[in-house]
Amino acid sequence: MKVSVKRGDSFQEYEVPRQASQTVLDVVMYIQRVLDPTLAYRYACRVGMCGSCAMMVNGVPRWTCRTHVDRVLEKDALTVAPLRNLPVIRDLVTDMREFFDKWARAKGQFSGSQTRSDEFERVPPQSEPRQLADAGIECIGCGVCYAACDVVKWNPQYLGPAALNRAWTLVNDVRDRSGLERLRAVSGDAGCLACHSHVSCTERCPKHLSPTAAIAGLKRAVTKAVLQGDL
Ligand code: SF4
Ligand code: SF4
Ligand code: FES
Repeated sequence: MKVSVKRGDSFQEYEVPRQASQTVLDVVMYIQRVLDPTLAYRYACRVGMCGSCAMMVNGVPRWTCRTHVDRVLEKDALTVAPLRNLPVIRDLVTDMREFFDKWARAKGQFSGSQTRSDEFERVPPQSEPRQLADAGIECIGCGVCYAACDVVKWNPQYLGPAALNRAWTLVNDVRDRSGLERLRAVSGDAGCLACHSHVSCTERCPKHLSPTAAIAGLKRAVTKAVLQGDL
């Protein structure tokens, strides 16, 4: 197959042999190991756990270690580029600092009040808050949703789907004690109210999470807090 890889301002072409069950990450690894050792890219687990291998594949953000070439090949050709909406360090490697700084800005850290000597805090698995929190907990921080979101492109300050999804899991975590502070953090111009509900994040999330639903939940929670005079 013909593979075009974005390197800086231009694309470089490679010929890569097809193999059974070949993933896009296999293709990139083949190029770097066999054809061109100067190609920079990032991966760690190869099994869909670490979230570090995401790239644009034929213009669509995907986790490359779990994307089979058969599913995405177009006319025997593949185009691979770094994730959209993030600065590029080199070739296929993006700088994820802003992405994760936004998690911190959305108060994406758990803030409990118990100490290790307290009784273990039990949350019934079937309770509504637990179900809502669990719905978004499997995020692997891959940045696919962030690259898919046009609002991030238009407004670089926008916290983005992953940070807001994380905030929503914590808003629903009954052990967490900084609920209002978190709602304040996600209620500004760059927060949940900026989301246009395009659903691209949800369509692309490789873990089948729904940041769109999480953001809608945050919008409701912020509105309720405002009406109650808490915000
Ligand atoms: S639903 Fe919101 S966060 Fe998701 S892609 Fe659309 S605008 Fe972005
Ligand atoms: S919400 Fe989905 S697409 Fe976004 S960072 Fe988490 S796992 Fe990746
Ligand atoms: S290499 Fe870890 S998710 Fe792809």
